Amino acid sequence: MMALFISALSLYLLFSTASCNSILFENYTYLPFDEGYTQLFGDDNLMLLRDGKTVHISLDERSGAGFASQDQYLHGFFSASIKLPSDYAAGVVVAFYMSNGDVFEKTHDELDFEFLGNIRGREWRVQTNIYGNGSTAVGREERYSLWFDPTEDFHRYSILWSQDRIIFYIDNIPIREMVRTPSIGGDFPSKPMSLYATIWDGSHWATLGGRYKANYKYAPFTAEFSDLVLHGCAVDPTDHLSTCNHRESGRYSSIKISDDDERLAMQGFRKKYVTYSYCYDRERYPVPVPECERRVLARLAGLPVERTR
Ligand SMILES: *[C@@H]1O[C@H](CO)[C@@H](O)[C@H](O)[C@H]1NC(C)=O
Ligand SMILES: *[C@@H]1O[C@H](CO)[C@@H](O)[C@H](O)[C@H]1NC(C)=O
Repeated sequence: MMALFISALSLYLLFSTASCNSILFENYTYLPFDEGYTQLFGDDNLMLLRDGKTVHISLDERSGAGFASQDQYLHGFFSASIKLPSDYAAGVVVAFYMSNGDVFEKTHDELDFEFLGNIRGREWRVQTNIYGNGSTAVGREERYSLWFDPTEDFHRYSILWSQDRIIFYIDNIPIREMVRTPSIGGDFPSKPMSLYATIWDGSHWATLGGRYKANYKYAPFTAEFSDLVLHGCAVDPTDHLSTCNHRESGRYSSIKISDDDERLAMQGFRKKYVTYSYCYDRERYPVPVPECERRVLARLAGLPVERTR
């Protein structure tokens, strides 16, 4: 299985430069921190490095830290190279996500990468989640292990959000796709969101369901963010209109998992590294949520789809 995945991966990497999804692979534009972002909390637990492209956020006994994009975006491609705190980091949560929870208290949208700590000798777990229009009663969590140690080096984590689909990527390999179908309805995020990066103490739930808590003997816990990409349709804060014209917003819709290599790489990843998916959790969802119906899952897995009558 590993060999299969590796070969799918290298195939994909080999051909990815020829992919039609050029927006993902063309030169990224990195906004200097001061131009694109603003600190949210944590005082000097947020440290900007001299290159202006790297930000360190830390958690210690006093506080976590976080920053957000200055603008809100309606659709786009959002990405960061992230290196997680090493050694013992149980209970520590590092989050890289889009949200509008500060604007819409009851009907917020959210797209998450969450890194859920580790105990020494065990790997970090990664989770993705999707909320739309306050759909917090339905958790759409997936959790993954990784094919690398995320504390050793920077790896790129990306979120594509268009009006048709959401794709999460790790190192430009798609790991999760949600296609907008009529049955998802308002649960598909559709209002402008900001980009966030935070580190905080999630002792009560993060690592093995809260069994391992943060131990401040190992503090500060520092997550490094670099080469942040904001590639979206910014929304004017006064009139709430998108600054993108039709053609520009169409660019994001044109991004699909369209070629076989990319689809194969995603399937290879999912077969080996998905450790939890809400779609298969029959305890929480005796009746699967719409996008988890067998037909849909079969199509995503590349299996033959039964014909509907
Ligand atoms: C990316 O940047 C390099 C160096 O500035 C340049 O040579 C290259 O043409 C650029 N590629 C694209 C696709 O813009
Ligand atoms: C979002 O939720 C609100 C409140 O429940 C509802 O009035 C509205 O129609 C929903 N929007 C969509 C797009 O479903």
